Amino acid sequence: MTAPDDLSRRGMLVKLGILFNGVVGAILAAPIVRYALSPVIRERRQARESWLSLGPLDKFPAGQTRLATYRSPAADPSDGETANIPCWVRHVDGDKFQVFAINCAHLGCPVRWFPQSGLFMCPCHGGVYYSDGSRASGPPERGLFEYSYKVEQGSLLIQPGEMPTPGAPTARLINISAGRPACG
Ligand code: FES
Repeated sequence: MTAPDDLSRRGMLVKLGILFNGVVGAILAAPIVRYALSPVIRERRQARESWLSLGPLDKFPAGQTRLATYRSPAADPSDGETANIPCWVRHVDGDKFQVFAINCAHLGCPVRWFPQSGLFMCPCHGGVYYSDGSRASGPPERGLFEYSYKVEQGSLLIQPGEMPTPGAPTARLINISAGRPACG
């Protein structure tokens, strides 16, 4: 006959064995899953690093700031309108532009441009930015994030990079108030 103590000890050992096998299985599976997903990850990174057109230069008159939209390069067809990402384009002069992420540098609400006052304002907590994107007042600790851009064959191109949401890497976007990459 088996004593109840033996039974409970055996049961506990079986459970520990299952747990241990589960942990080892998860550790072994991680690199396999990463390898399987690597083409998708690589494709998305390449898409973020590619150049996208915001349209012909005459859409952006010199001395003005205009709203533009681009389609997220990482979008799926099922994403619909949500993959259309707005940004603010400031045409300083000639081939000199500034392209700002629409997201406030505080918590990411979309900022609006007010040409009358020459300021970007955030409706969420009152963050205010000057026309060059630098911080004017309110809770944001820095200026608006800025996209890399270039002018090519009469069009304005940007590198979309990663969206500057809290917690997300934003190494491709520039923190203009500090004059260095925003994170990382
Ligand atoms: S999100 Fe813009 S001020 Fe807070």
